[in-house]
Amino acid sequence: MPKLWKPFRKIVSAVRLCAVGGREAWFFEMKLFHKVRKLTQSLTYERAWRRVQRVIFPLPLEPLLASVDRQRLREIKQRYAGLSLEYAKYADIERWLPMNRERVQDLKLHRLAPKRVLDLGCGGGFFLFILKRSGHSVLGLDMDQFPLFTELLGLFDVPRVVWTIKAFEPLPDLGQKFDWITAFSINFNLHYPGERLWGCAEWDFLLRDLQCRLAPSGKIFFALNPTFGRDYYTSDLRDFFLSRGATVERERIFFRRGLRF
Ligand SMILES: C[S@@+](CC[C@H](N)C(=O)[O-])C[C@H]1O[C@@H](n2cnc3c(N)ncnc32)[C@H](O)[C@@H]1O
Repeated sequence: MPKLWKPFRKIVSAVRLCAVGGREAWFFEMKLFHKVRKLTQSLTYERAWRRVQRVIFPLPLEPLLASVDRQRLREIKQRYAGLSLEYAKYADIERWLPMNRERVQDLKLHRLAPKRVLDLGCGGGFFLFILKRSGHSVLGLDMDQFPLFTELLGLFDVPRVVWTIKAFEPLPDLGQKFDWITAFSINFNLHYPGERLWGCAEWDFLLRDLQCRLAPSGKIFFALNPTFGRDYYTSDLRDFFLSRGATVERERIFFRRGLRF
């Protein structure tokens, strides 16, 4: 519950610090200015409302954790403990499940009747594991590049199609249609070695391909990554997502009423 008051608590603390004066007063005045400006932005209220809804419609973690094979998890953790690999951190499932719980809650998926969900770039399958435990039918799609992810998917009993998403190439036949297609912390939209992000043409190709895989009334949700030190998208790409029927809220691209062509 205290999380709900986070923006307001920050403002109060900035006001207090301003009142102290001294050499840091300017810094805190600026901070206060930014905090107050945030209050004029709809994003602040949308986020606050999401936090409120997470409290009103909880999704307890304990039963999720209790359903995991502890012995198998211990063995996985031991195998990756102390490794300097960037992705070894994902073995700490107690850290990643809460973040994925929020993703499920924010899409209200724990409050819906069973859906068929495809998650692109599913990683270790945290999001799909929670969905599966909430009664949904799930399928992940990802490259097979990190053994830990494969082990976690096994631990969570989340099925995955091994596939590398490439610009202007359709996805494989997945044998079914989906009510939801999601992708979080996306990085399949990167051109290497040029370090260029996908533009409208690449996204248009993917969206048209996903449209064929979407059941009637299906929805698509993407959470973009800020990559190569740039923003989430160019203004052209933002306009493109809007023109295809998305609501765009910073990194969140949500086609809640499907795609528009
Ligand atoms: C930052 S991780 C995010 C994992 C997961 N979605 C999450 O939020 O926890 C990005 C994932 O996308 C996958 N990925 C990257 N490029 C991909 C591609 N071209 N096709 C399929 N998956 C890809 C990676 O293997 C990795 O699992």
